[in-house]
Amino acid sequence: MLNAYSSFLLLTFVALFQNVTGQYINGQFFTQGLSIIDSPSPQNPGHAGSPIPIAIDVSGDGKLPASATSNGSDSTRYELLEIYLVSAETKINITVSAGPGLLANESGSTVKHVNWPIPTCIPAGNYNLTFYETSLFNNTGVFTITPIPIPISNASPSGQCTDLNTLQAQPQSSNPLTQSPFAPNSTLPSTPPYPLLTPPRLREPAMDSPRCSRWC
Ligand SMILES: *[C@@H]1O[C@H](CO)[C@@H](O)[C@H](O)[C@H]1NC(C)=O
Ligand SMILES: *[C@@H]1O[C@H](CO)[C@@H](O)[C@H](O)[C@H]1NC(C)=O
Ligand SMILES: *[C@@H]1O[C@H](CO)[C@@H](O)[C@H](O)[C@H]1NC(C)=O
Ligand SMILES: *[C@@H]1O[C@H](CO)[C@@H](O)[C@H](O)[C@H]1NC(C)=O
Ligand SMILES: *[C@@H]1O[C@H](CO)[C@@H](O)[C@H](O)[C@H]1NC(C)=O
Ligand SMILES: *[C@@H]1O[C@H](CO)[C@@H](O)[C@H](O)[C@H]1NC(C)=O
Repeated sequence: MLNAYSSFLLLTFVALFQNVTGQYINGQFFTQGLSIIDSPSPQNPGHAGSPIPIAIDVSGDGKLPASATSNGSDSTRYELLEIYLVSAETKINITVSAGPGLLANESGSTVKHVNWPIPTCIPAGNYNLTFYETSLFNNTGVFTITPIPIPISNASPSGQCTDLNTLQAQPQSSNPLTQSPFAPNSTLPSTPPYPLLTPPRLREPAMDSPRCSRWC
């Protein structure tokens, strides 16, 4: 049985674990990855049938080169950025943007936009607009999940939902940075290029080799 002190530690840990997903500073949400979410802001209400404007600064507040979004060879770069609208309350997980489109579109723009029409099929309730970012920071793999809580109203849900996914328990496991490298008060270095994690290999292991699971 847990004594009072370990219960306190456990609760503190759970509270930290749930709250630490980034920092909202001066109207921007600095995730614990590379993305900075300009909109929506937390608790910004959405209305079924109306679009929700989503804007993500992918330039690290001007500190990342444009090539960092093209999944090339930068030691700090994005690999994939996807968005799902999820809710443990209404038991919904619906795709907002999946696949490489978000990063690839609006080439050259430091801010990527999705003007997503909230479907009329979903019930009213509390949702998380959840950003899933897979990236490299100084050649180390980072997987950041950033839920932005938004309430959604819907006077009369109608129609059949498409693009529904299996809903998983939240918070989901992730592998974020300790803080945003680009937040004004960050202690992480924010300016690439970073030195290589390991000296360049002459021959890369094959992608399907056993020691190359997710990151090579
Ligand atoms: C980026 O590269 C990684 C590693 O090669 C790959 O797994 C991923 O699918 C690529 N992402 C996109 C959006 O092409
Ligand atoms: C990217 O652009 C294509 C073609 O215009 C469009 O169909 C798609 O919805 C866009 N994807 C995103 C995430 O904006
Ligand atoms: C929502 O669905 C996507 C696609 O299957 C999945 O990657 C993501 O983990 C899911 N999120 C939740 C909270 O269920
Ligand atoms: C939103 O995400 C947080 C953190 O993962 C979770 O505790 C909360 O239950 C989620 N809210 C909804 C409505 O799913
Ligand atoms: C940075 O500032 C934010 C907002 O003022 C604060 O919540 C956060 O704890 C600070 N982070 C660090 C690393 O000092
Ligand atoms: C990048 O990673 C290497 C190896 O871990 C480390 O020595 C170096 O300090 C890191 N550079 C930065 C700018 O964090």
